[in-house]
Amino acid sequence: MTDKNKNCVWITGASSGIGKASAMEFSRIGCKVIVSSRRISRLEKINADLKKEKLKVEILPCNVASSANVVQTVKKITLTNKINCLINNAGVSTFKLAKDNSLQEIKDIINTNLLGSIFTIKQILPHMIKNGGGTIINILSVAAIKVFEQSSAYTASKMGLLGYTNVLREEVRGQNIKVVNILPGATETPMWPKEIRNKKSDEMMKPEGLAQLLVWIFLQKRNMVTEEITIRPIQGDI
Ligand SMILES: NC(=O)c1ccc[n+]([C@@H]2O[C@H](COP(=O)([O-])OP(=O)(O)OC[C@H]3O[C@@H](n4cnc5c(N)ncnc54)[C@H](OP(=O)(O)O)[C@@H]3O)[C@@H](O)[C@H]2O)c1
Repeated sequence: MTDKNKNCVWITGASSGIGKASAMEFSRIGCKVIVSSRRISRLEKINADLKKEKLKVEILPCNVASSANVVQTVKKITLTNKINCLINNAGVSTFKLAKDNSLQEIKDIINTNLLGSIFTIKQILPHMIKNGGGTIINILSVAAIKVFEQSSAYTASKMGLLGYTNVLREEVRGQNIKVVNILPGATETPMWPKEIRNKKSDEMMKPEGLAQLLVWIFLQKRNMVTEEITIRPIQGDI
């Protein structure tokens, strides 16, 4: 199949964890995958890891916290691609009490998780409308619906994006644009401090499991939309 006939998926925050696993899984089902994040060397590692399967992703570094960078990246992407799916996955966190978070840490969390996702949506929306539809999958968190201490700014970012995307979904139904919110619980990725990962690895979900869920959602029939999925470790929250 030529690249032109393939479904094209753009994944932000694809250099590690859930984003990387998703990039690999969408490649395996025959999609053209464009991967973005800030660390190019980590994005290149995806192609090194996919080499034995004779698969490849396209690398386009992008810091989603910079609206100018997002504008530039979307211009580049849409020049030669029709994006069928945007996965807003880029995210950062600190596991700190509100009183201990620095202003810079708070800005980084809000600018990346909330504004970064809004920037990508704003830029990709006219493209999807022009193309007659598309899917926008946002990786939120169970923190958007349940209170966890030491995650005040993170929770604000995820709750904020939940509100924004719930409104957006209603506004773009008529244009065949699906807005999907995924609310995962603890998943074993570098986002968690190493000590917790070491201790709780058996309980935590794996990024590969979430990647399979995203593929399944993307492949659903054109006339239905999975609006929201909460997915947790079987033993509950960590
Ligand atoms: N792990 C969990 O338990 C869990 C649970 C619920 C929700 N989530 C959400 O899942 C998403 C993925 O996180 P993860 O767990 O897979 O953690 P991760 O392995 O740390 O991945 C985070 C990704 O975001 C990218 N990123 C961070 N800041 C960015 C920016 N300004 N611009 C572009 N990319 C940026 C990072 O790449 P660079 O550093 O290369 O930019 C990295 O690829 C996040 O939105 C997170 O909130 C995770």
